[in-house]
Amino acid sequence: MAPRHFTRYLVVGAVFLFVIIIFSSSSTTSRAGVIDVLQYPEAIRDKIPTITVPNSLRWSFQSSPHKPPDQRNSTHDGSSWYSDWKWLNPFSSSVTLDQDRIVLPPLHERPPIYTFYDASAKADQETKKIDKEFLLSWRRAWWAHGFRPVVLTDAEAMSHPLYQTLHAKGMPATLEQDFREWLAWAHMGTGLFASRYCLPMAPYDDALLSHLRRGQFSHLTKFQGLGSGLFAGEKSQIEDALKSALNSVKLSAFKTITDAIDSDRFKTEQPTSLAHYDPKTVASKYPVLAELIAKEPNKGRCSLLKLMQAHLHMTWQNTFSTGIVVLQPLAAHTFTLVKPSMDLARLLAECPSSILQSACPPNRPKCTPCTGSKLTVNTASAFRNTSSLFTIAVVPHPYTMITLTNLTTDISVAHIRRNTDRDPWITAVTRDILGDARGGPSRVVSLKDAAASEYGSSRSLWFTTEHFPASFYSPPPPPKSPTNDRPVEEKTAPFPEDWLEHIDWHFGFRIPRTTISHGESLPPVPGPERWAKIPAGLPAERKKAHEPDPPTEEAAAIEVELLRQARETINSKEEVVLKIREVAEAWNLADTEAWKFVKSFRARQVVERLKFEEEESAFETGAARGNSRWWGS
Ligand SMILES: *[C@@H]1O[C@H](CO)[C@@H](O)[C@H](O)[C@H]1NC(C)=O
Ligand SMILES: *[C@@H]1O[C@H](CO)[C@@H](O)[C@H](O)[C@H]1NC(C)=O
Ligand SMILES: *[C@@H]1O[C@H](CO)[C@@H](O)[C@H](O)[C@H]1NC(C)=O
Repeated sequence: MAPRHFTRYLVVGAVFLFVIIIFSSSSTTSRAGVIDVLQYPEAIRDKIPTITVPNSLRWSFQSSPHKPPDQRNSTHDGSSWYSDWKWLNPFSSSVTLDQDRIVLPPLHERPPIYTFYDASAKADQETKKIDKEFLLSWRRAWWAHGFRPVVLTDAEAMSHPLYQTLHAKGMPATLEQDFREWLAWAHMGTGLFASRYCLPMAPYDDALLSHLRRGQFSHLTKFQGLGSGLFAGEKSQIEDALKSALNSVKLSAFKTITDAIDSDRFKTEQPTSLAHYDPKTVASKYPVLAELIAKEPNKGRCSLLKLMQAHLHMTWQNTFSTGIVVLQPLAAHTFTLVKPSMDLARLLAECPSSILQSACPPNRPKCTPCTGSKLTVNTASAFRNTSSLFTIAVVPHPYTMITLTNLTTDISVAHIRRNTDRDPWITAVTRDILGDARGGPSRVVSLKDAAASEYGSSRSLWFTTEHFPASFYSPPPPPKSPTNDRPVEEKTAPFPEDWLEHIDWHFGFRIPRTTISHGESLPPVPGPERWAKIPAGLPAERKKAHEPDPPTEEAAAIEVELLRQARETINSKEEVVLKIREVAEAWNLADTEAWKFVKSFRARQVVERLKFEEEESAFETGAARGNSRWWGS
């Protein structure tokens, strides 16, 4: 073949190939004709280097033609996701090849932390009930700090081969109990072993907690002055330490297992971010409480539990000393939209009550008690990346936003195209960090980073309108006669209990269920020591200055009704409704991606915890965990 002919064939061949690619790729993506008509123009002039444009042509050249495989438990309540390192791609569909499947950051591995609970010990119902509360509070706190809290019982201890040899050693009962607990830990293997009175009392990204979350321990570790509060180690280190301790001839002379184990097996670290509320600590730091526990054990222990909760809450509040901000980027007609976030923010800013209102956690003697310096709650139109500021945001679906802006559900395609801006929500939210010049894709990347990176997710909480209980979007009850002129009035937030319980696990403490209106920061059971400290009237004024002006009753009722209808529209399967929704989505690709991302991210958190509860409840009947049952089956 002559070279000139060869070139001609090559050109014809290349053109042919190109045509094939165009046809095959556009047929896989055009779900609805409208989307092609409204393709996203800004994407192309956006400047960030790693973006893939949500354009059928572009991505078909750079990603594999296969959808990534389904992962376990990756759907919930209409959301579906794929956990992958490529999560910071602006548009998930360029990775998943599926409009409805969102790429989320890989779920980080939670290292296990164990505690032992002797369920068979003789105790009355009341004591057992309080024990359960302690365990719940312990699990919730460690879960919120990124661990997998697991309660061990005798079933695990008995699964260890050395269990049978324990009794014959003739050691003191308390030491034998210590060994039983460690055998349960050894049976489970590498991880942390804690007393249920030991809590992580520090911000999520505290250095020690981050180190412990990595789950790798070069030595068996204990903590200075923490007693048996917390240990860490790998399975082989635990087993070796146990074996040599049990072979020691002086065994019965020891009081605790830390004495019995040779001290050079341990590495000792500083317990900077750990709070241990053991009897010794309580007696020295909180003598009033110690007295109460001695006099009335159940009542005292309830107070201790409340104190521990209050300290967790206060530590969280101290971390976010700049305050809580609720994002309200588009001010018009969005009072009802952000109201649930506002209510949640107010609950988080409440002062937790306990019998020692101004006492600090054992490991943070320089804390700032809540009373007298209550957290501020503000709204802001844009996200600010300040490390001491906690952000709560609710992302509306673009259709929801369009109806709210226009104050009608009667939205036409023409209206969307002629009278609405593209991506108004995300543009406003990211204005502070990105300015005005950037296009949708880089805004989406920033928002994903703010909502879901390790740094961002510990400083913010993102919802979609659909995540809030429907009670927020139903007509208000008939107005009561205004008899209440008292300055302090307790107001029950309309959050259902199970909804708040879930959020409790996110924060690691029990969020107060009520706020006190008029801004007074008095807990329901006032104790004398805090009366003097509150600067009279100040919190009320401060609060008033930053809250959005409430709309008139009539306007609020319209907002409620629009939001209720929009929620139905989002889930509707009706042809006409679907079409207008798709037009809204195609017109606002970045707002839509933000909404889907936040929806899936939250759904995955729910599933992660439900799965954990599911697996844990399997052991509640007393079955042993782990797969090595030495007695054979
Ligand atoms: C809603 O949109 C229509 C045009 O489609 C416009 O005439 C009307 O003024 C808008 N209403 C509001 C409250 O913006
Ligand atoms: C916020 O700041 C942190 C640390 O300075 C950074 O890692 C993160 O990417 C920033 N987030 C956004 C959304 O810009
Ligand atoms: C996770 O998936 C399994 C089946 O693969 C299912 O039985 C289980 O209910 C799922 N758990 C959750 C919380 O969705």
